[in-house]
Amino acid sequence: MNIKNQALAQIMSSESANELEQIRIDYLGKSGKLTEIIKKIKEADPSERKQIGQTINEVKNTVEKLITEQKNNFKQSAREWFDPTIPGIKPKVGNIHLLTNTIEEISQIFGRIGFERARYPEVEWDWFSFEALNFPENHPARDDWETFFVDTGESSKYGPMILTPHTSSGQIREMQRVKNPPIRMINIAKCYRRQSDISHVQMFHQFEGLVVDRGVSIVNLKGTLDYFAKSFFGKGRVTRLRPYHFQFTEPSFEIDISCGVCMGKGCKVCKAGWLELGGAGMVHPNVLKAGGIDEKIYSGFAFGWGVERVLMMKDGIGIPDVRMIYSTDLRYLQQF
Ligand code: FA5
Repeated sequence: MNIKNQALAQIMSSESANELEQIRIDYLGKSGKLTEIIKKIKEADPSERKQIGQTINEVKNTVEKLITEQKNNFKQSAREWFDPTIPGIKPKVGNIHLLTNTIEEISQIFGRIGFERARYPEVEWDWFSFEALNFPENHPARDDWETFFVDTGESSKYGPMILTPHTSSGQIREMQRVKNPPIRMINIAKCYRRQSDISHVQMFHQFEGLVVDRGVSIVNLKGTLDYFAKSFFGKGRVTRLRPYHFQFTEPSFEIDISCGVCMGKGCKVCKAGWLELGGAGMVHPNVLKAGGIDEKIYSGFAFGWGVERVLMMKDGIGIPDVRMIYSTDLRYLQQF
């Protein structure tokens, strides 16, 4: 490649004004490649000197011109790229998902009365979710949980592996972890059941409360539930306990909350003034034993409710179908 073509190729492939300046110095500077040739013209045959001089001058002018042009191009595009007078582009700011917000709110409400947030495996042994919770093997009550089984190909003394159908397995895990009460746990986690309809999804969240200490009674349970109802749903809301059955609590209750629309008088939204919130009860002695706690010294209460459910029951939220919470449509989600 002759020196002209070499210079032109370098200029055309340069990517900045600084690079161009370096090329200019390399060719046209004091000891640049073209300058050196110009210096040697006087050594040439006098008959050829004029011709050589003209050619070199042409090359020099072409190189200089192209460098100047390219430098201007860079300046121009830099100006186009940054115009300080154009208003800035506002970045899109996301918002925290309403379910994440609800989990945070529940966690804070219980945190204020000393409940510690816990998290336990979502893929769990059958024993922690059923056996240790006082479900005899093959007990029909297990069917209520419509469990997903995980085929690990391994057998264990804890039975098959499952996706946690409820957060109650966390009761056993927490008792085993703490060993010596007092225990005040709030376990908020994902649960899985083979269900899908207007009020059920296959993956949902529960929050599980567990309190174990000396002399814990139903009065403490009722006080805690009322505190939650007032903090989460608003002043004036109260709870009531209805007798129910769970394998792992004795006695067991379904908890209702007074309706926020009619304030307990009875309306279209509720059942005679009450809305169903979820289950609770006094921890069964067999469960305390399975968790390694001395049931003769300690007693406790537990409750487990759906996060999606309490969210839907909040005044003014207006979610008619639980599956909508899991919508990926931003137009819907951005309302909250
Ligand atoms: C239980 O799961 C018990 N472990 C609760 C409990 C804990 C009772 C401690 C006593 C002591 P249940 O199956 O009713 O109970 O579920 C509790 C709540 O989880 C329901 O009230 C509902 O709000 C929510 N839930 C259950 N299944 C689904 C589902 N498929 N989709 C969305 N929410 C659900």
